Amino acid sequence: MSHTYETLPENVKQYSAQELQKLLYSTIDLNMQIKESHWTMAGREFLSVHRLFDEVAEVIEDTVDDIAERIAQLGHKPEGTLQKVAEKSSLPTYPKSFSSIDEHIEVIGQRLAFVTSQALQAMANMEENGDPISVDLLTARTREIDKLTWLVESHLPQRK
Ligand SMILES: [Fe+2]
Repeated sequence: MSHTYETLPENVKQYSAQELQKLLYSTIDLNMQIKESHWTMAGREFLSVHRLFDEVAEVIEDTVDDIAERIAQLGHKPEGTLQKVAEKSSLPTYPKSFSSIDEHIEVIGQRLAFVTSQALQAMANMEENGDPISVDLLTARTREIDKLTWLVESHLPQRK
């Protein structure tokens, strides 16, 4: 831990850094899964979904940056190498094969929902522990991710 002018108590900073680090692993993993999907999909809806996934990946990449920089602001060292992410991400692994674009949409929709619920849990924990700034950062990011999740899943036929 390094010195920082950030005024939160050390134990709060440490706790938030740990919560954010768990989320950082999954978010980096998510970004790569979306890109893999963006590159490998094929089918009738290709162009719209291909473009949408790039838009989603951009928001996730900005989220990665925000989370990592918040960890640094808290006086900790963000861990974002591929090796560490592969070892520690809790996101479900990327499927070996897909049969259709609908399947890409379903998988990426589920992955987005996974990271959102992980973020909600981190927010609840950090709120209780007294770090409203990290909570605010994740609230803003989650609001954007929620909207994109809706755009992604709206490509699927209506489920009753
Ligand atoms: Fe692209």
